[in-house]
Amino acid sequence: MEQAFDITLTVNGTAVTRRVEARQHLVDFLRDELGLTGSHTACEHGVCGACTVRVDGSIVRGCLMLAVQANGCRVDTVEGLSDSKELAKLQKAFHERNALQCGFCTPGMLMAAQDLVLQKKKFSREEIRNHISGNYCRCTGYQAIVDAIEDVLQQA
Ligand code: FES
Ligand code: FES
Repeated sequence: MEQAFDITLTVNGTAVTRRVEARQHLVDFLRDELGLTGSHTACEHGVCGACTVRVDGSIVRGCLMLAVQANGCRVDTVEGLSDSKELAKLQKAFHERNALQCGFCTPGMLMAAQDLVLQKKKFSREEIRNHISGNYCRCTGYQAIVDAIEDVLQQA
């Protein structure tokens, strides 16, 4: 029988306590238990970045971290950062630059991009590309995404 654990964590500013199975991944916990479906699952082995969330201030792959490992942590998802308006500049820039088509990669891309914005430094286009190189987009060819991120970095 699967082992279960009680965990308490803060998700988007709200304390959450749940019993989870030992093998449940963080992204599945967020999506299935909390209904936070902005974080997507695709490859489910750490390659595509669709599941990117922030744990204690660092972006992580939600498909590579177990929910039990987030016990006691602060987890922020695209929903939380969107509601708090932290992502507002990036969302506007993505819209203006047509930096999304199907939108599947966009939540993870925004989380990765915001990680760069928070560093409050000047980054070259190559450095921007490097930073988002772990986030796959099948639609845009990345050019417009880099344009959008560059726009926001220039406003800082
Ligand atoms: S679903 Fe996690 S990296 Fe692809
Ligand atoms: S917009 Fe479709 S995968 Fe990026």
